[in-house]
Amino acid sequence: MPEPSVAVISATKFPEIVAPVSRIDEAARTSDGHPALGDAVWLDLDHPGSDSAGFLANESGYAHVARADNIATTASANDGAIPPHWTLGVAVAPDARASGVRARLVAAAVRHVAEHGGGRLVFWVLGAGPDDDEELAPVGLQPARDLYEMRVALPIAEEAKWPAGIRVRPFEVGTDEAAWLEVNNRAFAGHDEQGGWTASTLERRMTEAWFDPALFLLAFDDTGLLGFNWLKMHEAHDRDPRLGEIYVIGIDPRGQGSGLGRALAIAGLQALHQRGIDVGMLFVAADNEPALRLYRALGFEVHRVDRAYECEVEPA
Ligand SMILES: CC(C)(COP(=O)(O)OP(=O)(O)OC[C@H]1O[C@@H](n2cnc3c(N)ncnc32)[C@H](O)[C@@H]1OP(=O)(O)O)[C@@H](O)C(=O)NCCC(=O)NCCS
Repeated sequence: MPEPSVAVISATKFPEIVAPVSRIDEAARTSDGHPALGDAVWLDLDHPGSDSAGFLANESGYAHVARADNIATTASANDGAIPPHWTLGVAVAPDARASGVRARLVAAAVRHVAEHGGGRLVFWVLGAGPDDDEELAPVGLQPARDLYEMRVALPIAEEAKWPAGIRVRPFEVGTDEAAWLEVNNRAFAGHDEQGGWTASTLERRMTEAWFDPALFLLAFDDTGLLGFNWLKMHEAHDRDPRLGEIYVIGIDPRGQGSGLGRALAIAGLQALHQRGIDVGMLFVAADNEPALRLYRALGFEVHRVDRAYECEVEPA
């Protein structure tokens, strides 16, 4: 296959490439069952940062690089207190994958970062495997973090057993925000993305179309809020049926290990099934042992591995 040439697209020209980039992403999505470019890329194409750039190989592939402070979310992670870095998104049409076009698009993006001061570059590959590790190593991108998408068939064959003295009710907008932020940030202390939520991070999520306080379960003991399970429903798309996601689940450290996480997870999955959902899903960092043990015990299995490749790019 002849190698398609790579055109460098500056931010002022982004409106002209939205159509071909959409076609490439759509072809990748049809073949893979999930999009290749995250929302962050589309957001940056619409409202580019000054150092953002695109790299287009005809109808074969597209790479987009931007400073993360112009991007609210990475492919699969929640936003929050993330150190400054560059993010890269790449889509390659299925019939161009053998041509090595991705490696050349990525190399062009790395050069762009070097010419604009260098810095840490993060590239999330959804559905990553050993071939990706091999192809990205020559430009210096190494696997840094894995995120598992796990799924389970619903209903699960277990009832929620609540620890003594626990009361459960849905989130009340206008009442529970401050207590939730405190418990969330304590439960996720040390987690880059989920541990640094502010009132505005929460507010933005609550204005999204999918937000439903009835699917945001809070558990209290006599001292106050002790844990929560925030759920999200996804309509069927691509090859996926309707999915019910455990979006964020957390237990205040003072209550961890007492069986509350298990009970909240089960209650949430039941609430999703009562709304007609037959598949539960969630994302979990591959090194979060306590959470993985809980999810595996409930029957969740790894459905897809998303991998963050990272490198430190020296300034040119
Ligand atoms: C993961 C989390 C929700 C589990 O809730 P929990 O109330 O602590 O867990 P439970 O007491 O219900 O225990 C359920 C299972 O989790 C596992 N588990 C819980 N704490 C654990 C620990 N410290 N180490 C290893 N496994 C642990 C065990 O498999 C346990 O099964 P068991 O009942 O057979 O022992 C909770 O620890 C938490 O909030 N962690 C920090 C935030 C987080 O990582 N959330 C998940 C993000 S995907």
